[in-house]
Amino acid sequence: MNNIRTIVGMQFGDEGKGKIVDFFSNDADVVIRYNGGDNAGHTIVANSKKYKLHLIPSGSVYGKDLIIANGCVLNPKILIDEIKMFDQVRLRISGRANVIMPYHIELDGLQEEERQKKIGTTKRGIGPCFSDKVNRSNAIRMYDLIDEKTLMKKIKENLSSKAKLIKYDDIEEYAENIFREYSGYGKFLEKYVCDTGVYLDEKIKENKEILFEGAQGCFLDVDHGTYPFVTSSNTLSGALCCGCGFFPKDMKITGITKAYVTRVGEGYFPTELFDNDGEHFLKVGVEYGTTTGRPRRCGWFDLPLMRRAVLLNSADSLVLTKLDVLSGLKKIKICTHYKINNKTTDIFPDNLEELKHAEPIYQEFDGFEDVDLSKIKKREELPEKVQVYVNFIEKQLKVPIEIISVGPKREETIIC
Ligand code: GDP
Ligand code: IMO
Ligand code: MG
Repeated sequence: MNNIRTIVGMQFGDEGKGKIVDFFSNDADVVIRYNGGDNAGHTIVANSKKYKLHLIPSGSVYGKDLIIANGCVLNPKILIDEIKMFDQVRLRISGRANVIMPYHIELDGLQEEERQKKIGTTKRGIGPCFSDKVNRSNAIRMYDLIDEKTLMKKIKENLSSKAKLIKYDDIEEYAENIFREYSGYGKFLEKYVCDTGVYLDEKIKENKEILFEGAQGCFLDVDHGTYPFVTSSNTLSGALCCGCGFFPKDMKITGITKAYVTRVGEGYFPTELFDNDGEHFLKVGVEYGTTTGRPRRCGWFDLPLMRRAVLLNSADSLVLTKLDVLSGLKKIKICTHYKINNKTTDIFPDNLEELKHAEPIYQEFDGFEDVDLSKIKKREELPEKVQVYVNFIEKQLKVPIEIISVGPKREETIIC
């Protein structure tokens, strides 16, 4: 069972998935991205370097076999820049993955401007690209990008269908310009494009170590997240089935969660802080978006949210990241329940109208002294007060904590 594992975000993204995927990649043979696009930003600190990856799987730092599967949407320019970051990349890209085109990026900006309730998208064209996909707009896929004839035809078709939304001075000239640029990307990427499903199936049958890298987080899922403040695709562990065309009958699901909560962009956030403790998380945790540089909103650890995340992802184990960031706080709180319309609930409500009225109920814990947790290698060596905090979370969620992360570097990791 342990030779297939998926890593998923249990909160609003940026839980530290990149670091943990890199950590597990040491033992992996193949690392696969199956959802999202370059709205993701996965940071890895290794070999005295910081890698900020948006598309290429985090197994790239260990030089593993990589797949970008059909469930992803690809901005070819961003992908090429990332491929060039490495001396050698063993990458396979699904021909069925949809391509983010300049008009998707333009539309993302325009739609956001027009929205009364802003989502705060990453403006990477993710929503419009997924819209074209599910709207069956004859959108451009990787197989089309590498076939010049189809590419030109589809660019023209897609541009004319957008003419009501975007004003072009000269649509023919614009189409030619896009074609010139994108056919160049196609030529560069051609050698990587293939039937990734068959390749993955072979590796699974050979009993290789397979690691799936989820992007975004549970509550950004278009079905199960805090709609409409979500991304445009599924982000749960289950997304990998359609995202790469493989149904895992036996797989370990590892949910990544920060020891507090952050969110970038708009939307519900019951435990959000607007005081000095929130400032502490922002400053000490260096909570700025990897993709957009925006400051992340910060709040206390939220058990109702996590109980829902465990349920939605069928998490078998947890990784608790950024525990070191709590160090220095005098008191620490954990939200154990929400009070909604005078009733108490222990799980994140399904009905988002109820969520609007959720008041967090907190349990208070002693803060950690100004201890440096980053050098600690064993769970039992954590100071008593830190153990109380970690054990409480584990007991409440009834899921074992497999790893505790106490710093951004590979070696700042405790295996429990
Ligand atoms: P991802 O999107 O889930 O991969 O997370 P991001 O990379 O966007 O954000 C996580 C940030 O926290 C990155 O800057 C990581 O280098 C950093 N990080 C990861 N784990 C830890 C940790 O345990 N402690 C600290 N201090 N930083 C961490
Ligand atoms: P990783 O993989 C955090 C958020 C955006 C916005 C909403 C919709 O690094 O955890 P989109 O551009 O997808 O249409 O934006 O989703 N968002 C993320 N927030 N981490 C991410 O990815 C995110 N990907 C999208 O900020 O609120
Ligand atoms: Mg991120």
